[in-house]
Amino acid sequence: MTVQQFVPQTATESAAAEALITPAQHAHAGADAAPKRLYIETQGCQMNAYDSDRMADLLGDSHGYVLTDDPADADVLLMNTCSIREKAQEKVFSQLGRWRALKDKNPELIIGVGGCVASQEGEGIQQRAPYVDMVFGPQTLHRLPQMLDQHEQNKRQHKSNKISLVDISFPEIEKFDFLPEPKVEGYKAFVSIMEGCSKYCSFCVVPYTRGEEVSRPLDDVIAEVASLAAKGVREITLLGQNVNGYRGETFDGQICNFAELLRLVAKIPNIGRIRYTTSHPLEFSDELINVYAELPQLVSHLHLPVQSGSNPVLAAMKRNHQVDIYIEKIAKLRQVRPDLHLSSDFIIGFPNEGDAEFAETLQFIKDLDFDHSYSFIYSKRPGTPAAELPDPTPEDVKKQRLSEVKAVIKASTIAKTNAMLGQTLRVLVEKISDRDDRMVLGSADNTRLVQFIGDPVLIGQFVSVEVTDILSMNLVQGNLVQVESAH
Ligand code: SAH
Ligand code: F3S
Repeated sequence: MTVQQFVPQTATESAAAEALITPAQHAHAGADAAPKRLYIETQGCQMNAYDSDRMADLLGDSHGYVLTDDPADADVLLMNTCSIREKAQEKVFSQLGRWRALKDKNPELIIGVGGCVASQEGEGIQQRAPYVDMVFGPQTLHRLPQMLDQHEQNKRQHKSNKISLVDISFPEIEKFDFLPEPKVEGYKAFVSIMEGCSKYCSFCVVPYTRGEEVSRPLDDVIAEVASLAAKGVREITLLGQNVNGYRGETFDGQICNFAELLRLVAKIPNIGRIRYTTSHPLEFSDELINVYAELPQLVSHLHLPVQSGSNPVLAAMKRNHQVDIYIEKIAKLRQVRPDLHLSSDFIIGFPNEGDAEFAETLQFIKDLDFDHSYSFIYSKRPGTPAAELPDPTPEDVKKQRLSEVKAVIKASTIAKTNAMLGQTLRVLVEKISDRDDRMVLGSADNTRLVQFIGDPVLIGQFVSVEVTDILSMNLVQGNLVQVESAH
């Protein structure tokens, strides 16, 4: 098999090519035939989920692909991979093995691998799985239509599809200029405001797989949010690895920071709720904290990863701050928003985490009173500085620590949900409840699902609901108190 480095056209060349083959012509070319079907498997984070939606939009517009949820039924299979932990990475090749069987049955089937494993392994993917036709990275997914065309051309020219395409480069934030307007389903949407990460925590692959931090220009972000709002979206989640490091260029060459971006998003009519993920304790500025006093649309829920509650561990992780900084920022934020629901990420069993450091983390979790949190056993990632550290703690000790952390966090989530009894929650109504069709279901600012007896006309609106029953740690029931007038 030959591996062909995919050489993208320049922006002008590809614009010219687009002018020759318009989306309408693509669609027309296949007008008589059944539309081609695309199956996308998404692994990993919300950034990947966002990217997968963009891939579907893109191939729908360019080649008329429609999504299918059955891989056996698809003409193109795309896997959007995650390499944050070893387990995630292992999944890629086992899944590819299953897809190989489909390709044996249908040699015309096109298989593409994108995302962070693709970015890390590049041509290595096809060395292990030669039946993969295309490899693309998180920053080159916008070139998928061209890669598909190139694949077709290769097949014609070589009368074989044994030539594969690899493009895992990091063109500076070019992808957003080539993505179609996002399609909207429902009342919530994600908007990516920046790509990559420049923090280089010692355990993390993200700066290597997604590249360094690059912010999207301010006008592009605002235009995307406004377009989503015009299509009925009421809740926006701003996405990026470190959204509070946002530095978007404005039309007149100034730089807009994250606090200012939030103020501008809050001005867009129809946007009644703003969330963001993920932020980093280091750039959590006083200005950002003060924005919580100004903007009622900004939810009283914050996911702020800290990773550990022990200073020596934070230092070895190269998080560049101490525990006190985190505590101080949260205390300030709770002054502005006493009802703040806080969540975090914890890595358990980091190489220098001994019993004493673990005890500090456990105490920290109790003290900070997290609403919920995600915790993972440290996974050694090749190429990261932490992979060189001696890691003496036995795996069963790490597992034991993880289950202790999980138990503390779960107890806290349950206690927080129980405390909602009698409280009035602001809810975005999203659909008729699956459990009881007299009820509608929505989500509260604090992420809990809320159901209540209500008219389906309320779907898409913000309401206040007084909680009368706790159904699970994630679902409560209540009575409608008030319907909010449109924002
Ligand atoms: N931007 C976020 C992190 C994104 S990665 C931040 O500011 O921290 C998502 C989560 O995966 C991290 O918060 C971390 O808890 C976890 N993670 C990353 N690398 C890991 C590794 N090598 N082992 C275990 N967990 C890891
Ligand atoms: Fe990873 Fe640290 Fe960035 S966890 S995404 S390098 S902030």
